[in-house]
Amino acid sequence: MIQFILNNRLVETDKKPGMSLLDYIRYEVGLPGTKVGCREGDCGACTVLIGELNNNKVDYKSIVSCLTPLVNVHGKHVVTIEGINLENDLTPVQKAMAENAATQCGFCTPGFVMSFTGFCMNHEKPTTSRAIESVAGNICRCTGYKSIQRAAEDITRLMQDKDIKNPVDWLVSKGYLPKYFLSIPDKLAEIHSKTEIPNNSEITVAGGTDLMVQKSDIVYESTIRPTKEIEHLQKIKFENQTCIIGGAATVTSLLQTEKLLQSIDGLRDYLMLVSSEPVRNIATIAGNIVNASPIADLSIMLLALNAQISSEIDGKVNTQPLDQLYTGYKQLKLQKGELITEIRFELPNANQQFNFEKVSKRQYLDIASVNSAMVIKVENNTITDCRISAGGVAPIPLYLQETSQFLIGKKISEQLFDEANDVMQNEISPIGDVRGTVEYKRLLLKQLLFAHFAKLFPDKMN
Ligand SMILES: Cc1cc2nc3c(=O)[nH]c(=O)nc-3n(C[C@H](O)[C@H](O)[C@H](O)COP(=O)(O)OP(=O)(O)OC[C@H]3O[C@@H](n4cnc5c(N)ncnc54)[C@H](O)[C@@H]3O)c2cc1C
Ligand code: FES
Ligand code: FES
Repeated sequence: MIQFILNNRLVETDKKPGMSLLDYIRYEVGLPGTKVGCREGDCGACTVLIGELNNNKVDYKSIVSCLTPLVNVHGKHVVTIEGINLENDLTPVQKAMAENAATQCGFCTPGFVMSFTGFCMNHEKPTTSRAIESVAGNICRCTGYKSIQRAAEDITRLMQDKDIKNPVDWLVSKGYLPKYFLSIPDKLAEIHSKTEIPNNSEITVAGGTDLMVQKSDIVYESTIRPTKEIEHLQKIKFENQTCIIGGAATVTSLLQTEKLLQSIDGLRDYLMLVSSEPVRNIATIAGNIVNASPIADLSIMLLALNAQISSEIDGKVNTQPLDQLYTGYKQLKLQKGELITEIRFELPNANQQFNFEKVSKRQYLDIASVNSAMVIKVENNTITDCRISAGGVAPIPLYLQETSQFLIGKKISEQLFDEANDVMQNEISPIGDVRGTVEYKRLLLKQLLFAHFAKLFPDKMN
């Protein structure tokens, strides 16, 4: 049985663990405020909030319900648009949307309202830019974004005095959230927080943001091993300069790890280019690696960082370099059922620099046409260490071994860039597809290599 609190009532269901939360909400419970748009995580019409008990308080975040299998909300509080309604008034978010004429046909509006409500309920200092980032995963086809932006500004103003330690209590005390939210921590504490993981599960599911797009029918029919239920996989820790990330850590949890952001220049901006907030809130690092998409952003960053991957099967632990993991398109050196437990890498030291570049058709909520990362160490103007990776130019996320080796021992100059590009062009094998022709992708990667050098060594590149 899967148990969770849906708005203000406990639900218990024997529906399949792989059913999407969206279908459950709309078609089993009959709450039609949550909309079905793309079913691919792209439009945000299905956005709901999910609350998790943490030290007697509940932390809320937005998620896309179309890609969330039911099993992943076991023991949680799910809030739909119906669950935030006040008795006699609109909530501040609903009011700001109405007063700024930020809605026309209204189809996208519940999604926007839930994303903005997630922004009001988070533990961060409210700023307009964060309010706008919170709806980066919501698409509106008819209103126009200016009025939604004005609503974001109004909401941010109202949140200025928010108690970021206890946002829920504060919102209830101001009459901005219904009172039943105060009873949720006790109710959640009563639910068994863990589901039993079947011994012989047919499929491992983490956030579901790849699986539910590509194989939702298989997920629906299968017995599932949810990695969210395996506690040690969620952790991010440091042993001296080594960063160790549990396989089920989400992109958002990386964004919330201050030491990581401080150690890798620009990392926050790079991670903000990965999908959108409600997807980042559930998408995991191991899911990004195992999906084996040739343009997976995290895998590209981790290849440059020389990450080592630990996995487990039948009690046996294997560790291998990420650059040895991929053997062909969507082929990995992992056995069926093998679980990625840890990803570890050395944080760049004072002499090393990191850079990531991504080109996509739009800046946010888009996958890359071509992406690339570089870690480089330069002493006395000579490159003493270098690792460059590239996505979208081969059947796998590619470590550019020959180009990286070629650069070591050389002095940085524009001529060196041209020579390195010649080596690199022989090392890649892009194919033409919807994201561009072969020639275009070759040119893009050349530009990204230039961008790495121009950004890190502006005085050496014209
Ligand atoms: C709208 C949208 C936008 C996106 N944008 C981006 C983007 O900008 N950049 C990007 O890189 N990706 C993007 N993605 C792809 C996706 O979100 C990421 O690849 C994500 O990291 C996948 O993680 P997950 O936890 O959701 O994986 P899941 O879908 O749960 O799993 C993916 C695969 O990994 C396996 N798996 C998961 N965890 C483990 C484990 N611990 N051990 C072994 N196998 C495991 C699963 O069995 C499955 O085969 C986007 C997806 C969507 C829907
Ligand atoms: S239906 Fe479009 S994001 Fe879920
Ligand atoms: S109001 Fe019509 S899609 Fe946004």
